[in-house]
Amino acid sequence: MLNMSSTKICILQMGYCHFDTAQIYGSEPALGNALNKAISNGLVEREDLFVTSKLWGSNHHDPVSALDQTLNNLGMEYVDMFLVHWPVRLKPWVFNPLPNEEDFEQLDLETTWEGMERCLELGLCRGIGVSNFSCTKIERLLDYASIIPAVNQVEMHPMWRQNKLRAFCKDYNIHVSAYSALGGPGNYWGSTAVVQNPIIQSIALKHNATPAQVALRWGLSKGASVIVKSFNKERLKENIGALNVELEDDDLLEIKQIEQWKIMRGEYYVNRTTSPYRTIQDLWDGEI
Ligand SMILES: NC(=O)c1ccc[n+]([C@@H]2O[C@H](COP(=O)([O-])OP(=O)(O)OC[C@H]3O[C@@H](n4cnc5c(N)ncnc54)[C@H](OP(=O)(O)O)[C@@H]3O)[C@@H](O)[C@H]2O)c1
Repeated sequence: MLNMSSTKICILQMGYCHFDTAQIYGSEPALGNALNKAISNGLVEREDLFVTSKLWGSNHHDPVSALDQTLNNLGMEYVDMFLVHWPVRLKPWVFNPLPNEEDFEQLDLETTWEGMERCLELGLCRGIGVSNFSCTKIERLLDYASIIPAVNQVEMHPMWRQNKLRAFCKDYNIHVSAYSALGGPGNYWGSTAVVQNPIIQSIALKHNATPAQVALRWGLSKGASVIVKSFNKERLKENIGALNVELEDDDLLEIKQIEQWKIMRGEYYVNRTTSPYRTIQDLWDGEI
């Protein structure tokens, strides 16, 4: 049986180099521990890794201190990318991915973004960006930002293709990073709909690939970086194998016909009293 750190070393040997974490996931210490071990064993150099972490809603008032804490958790001097996790501000003591109605504070993205820019100036990160931001929210942010977000990390897979957002981000040179690139099968909020989609399955069959590989390759073909999670060594190998799958124009056209479905709707950040978002449509500015 593999222990956590040997699994992580195998991951590096498979070719993974981008690691996505966040303070709210609780995974920063384990990730930092495994990566630092691999660095000190000479398996990899820090410069060859790309580590992303994220600012939780309860830290919007002080991104610099939050990133200090993240670096402390990771045992690293910098992260490659630091993202505003959600356009949601919570009371400073709330450390819960599913906040209660009384946990919300008034959103002030201008001040939060100033703090993010300060993180970059201080050299605590090499890039700053956002996550779960609509085109509308980015457009507003661009009115006051001195530094344009480098990344918007959003749900993206063959059933939620983000056409409008991708075109918008391209205009501003903002990289789109695709989370739940398989639709999050097995997650409490996720779905098997992507990997079980008949069109994805038939394209997989045609290329002697797996449905997951087709979904991941589709994201890559759209210029996104794809963030996929697995605790299973065989599926980790399978997923990196997506790099060897070639999709044809016909495949992409077929995928374009699949009915769209946003799986991660963010209903936990919507309420009628304290959240800035009364409805799910408000949260995404009608872009769903
Ligand atoms: N910014 C945000 O708000 C946000 C939100 C969600 C996620 N994320 C990031 O994105 C990462 C991935 O997202 P996710 O976990 O939601 O979605 P995902 O990667 O689409 O789905 C993960 C699930 O898929 C299963 N899986 C992995 N490879 C598979 C394969 N080849 N075939 C079939 N099933 C497979 C995994 O199970 P096994 O472990 O059993 O393989 C796991 O249960 C997260 O870890 C996080 O870093 C960010």
